[in-house]
Amino acid sequence: MSVQKVTVLISGNGSNLQALIDANRSGHLNIDINHVISNRADAAGLDRARIAGISCSILDHTNFNRLEEFDRALAVLIGAQNPDLVILAGFMRILGSQVLEKFSGRMINLHPSLLPLYRGTNTYSRAIEAGDLQHGASMHFVTAELDGGPVISQVRIPVEKDDDAETLAARLSPREHDLVVSTVELFSSFSVQCKTGKIWVDGKAISCPLQLQTDNSFVIDKTTV
Ligand code: GRF
Repeated sequence: MSVQKVTVLISGNGSNLQALIDANRSGHLNIDINHVISNRADAAGLDRARIAGISCSILDHTNFNRLEEFDRALAVLIGAQNPDLVILAGFMRILGSQVLEKFSGRMINLHPSLLPLYRGTNTYSRAIEAGDLQHGASMHFVTAELDGGPVISQVRIPVEKDDDAETLAARLSPREHDLVVSTVELFSSFSVQCKTGKIWVDGKAISCPLQLQTDNSFVIDKTTV
């Protein structure tokens, strides 16, 4: 089944949400961003959603004493709009079993590293300190393992000699936007599934994450999509 209804979870700026809104507006994507949920009331991404006329909710994690209670409320809130796909785009909370189980196989996360390298935070400085020649971003299915679910797609950029975390992040950001849009496009054009720890595109297992090309296409089995 191809994806139509998409819910986006954010915690901050929401530039990746904006990339999806813009791609939808320009006709590049044809999805219904049916709900934006933020765990922070001051997230700038909420204004981006409001301006685009998308329904928004704030679920402030600090109002809950226990992770399970936040998790239960979040599962209900997401489920109310019955999305085909849930995108974590800069959503800075760890999810518990209620959300993970309910949305297993239809929740994906954007992470700023070439997974399995550098799960967690400070990925840019870790890549620079390690002397990596490339850095990038990945989109993966969300599982109980933090940043550890099967990786669907990646984008790579070179690390320049004089890069610091800030310049590397700034150069990666527009390519992250391209990755999010192209990955959602993939979900709306093909059946993308996560089964037996692998990614299946239209019933075929892919052997490694799809790499975003400079023209924002992916190559699957020598076919450009
Ligand atoms: C992105 O860099 C993403 O990789 C990370 O958080 C950032 C979110 O940016 N997980 P924005 O809120 O979409 O601008």
